[in-house]
Amino acid sequence: MPTRYREGDAAAWNRPIRDSELFDPTRRDIFNFIDETKVKRLRPLLPPAGKAIEIGAGSGRLLIRLGRERPYRLFALDYAPYAVRAVRENYRRANAEGYALFGDARALPFPADSFDVVLSGGLLEHFRDPAPILAEMARILRPGGLFYADIVPRKVSLYRWAERERMARDENLSEGIYESDLTRSAWRDLIRDAGLRDVRLVSAGVYPPYTLRGHEALTWRYGSFLRKLDGTPVADVLGFFFMVTARK
Ligand SMILES: C[S@@+](CC[C@H](N)C(=O)[O-])C[C@H]1O[C@@H](n2cnc3c(N)ncnc32)[C@H](O)[C@@H]1O
Repeated sequence: MPTRYREGDAAAWNRPIRDSELFDPTRRDIFNFIDETKVKRLRPLLPPAGKAIEIGAGSGRLLIRLGRERPYRLFALDYAPYAVRAVRENYRRANAEGYALFGDARALPFPADSFDVVLSGGLLEHFRDPAPILAEMARILRPGGLFYADIVPRKVSLYRWAERERMARDENLSEGIYESDLTRSAWRDLIRDAGLRDVRLVSAGVYPPYTLRGHEALTWRYGSFLRKLDGTPVADVLGFFFMVTARK
């Protein structure tokens, strides 16, 4: 019997920090490729200054990258201890200043309209009902501010080809961690229902399977071609994540 997912279960996420999470934008690995893809997408939309927060920040790498694009005050929030440690280490490595906070995405400890940018990566798909999380993210975003989320749905993709059977039969990414199979249009509706506008949802991430030897070198080598597939019907079928932008 798979363990039932409990949404308060920070322990399911907690683990040692991985080397791949340590901030080093010069490393040509898949994580930096993906982070650069997200930054390219966000660059034209970023407010010129203000406060930016990543909810479910993990190692906070995307937040730190955005802090290099604009002079933001950085806030990383997560409810798992590994993440708070990883963010602090990454601020140090990036020579960045910022807050690393324990907190729960279901009840964000900030007043309404506090942030110019509110983002999450790989968070929303881990809730059976993501609406309360989206409502919280929308609440703390100031009117006109930028919302960004990337979502890794439980669907077949080239990159996660090795997991295709698990996708069909098991909704747990790993013990204690649920992974939702909501479609693009369901996400679009949820994000609109949270009171956000100008919702743009792009399928992305048509990359060689991670089980293929040399997949990272291949991804970097053919990176500009692979990025051109983002937002196309090929990515709807074979991509492994969605990038969502919206405004309040
Ligand atoms: C898949 S990781 C993503 C980390 C990072 N954003 C990234 O893109 O690499 C999801 C993160 O969300 C955090 N998380 C899950 N549920 C949460 C909650 N209710 N409140 C705060 N953080 C949560 C986990 O602890 C984990 O660090």
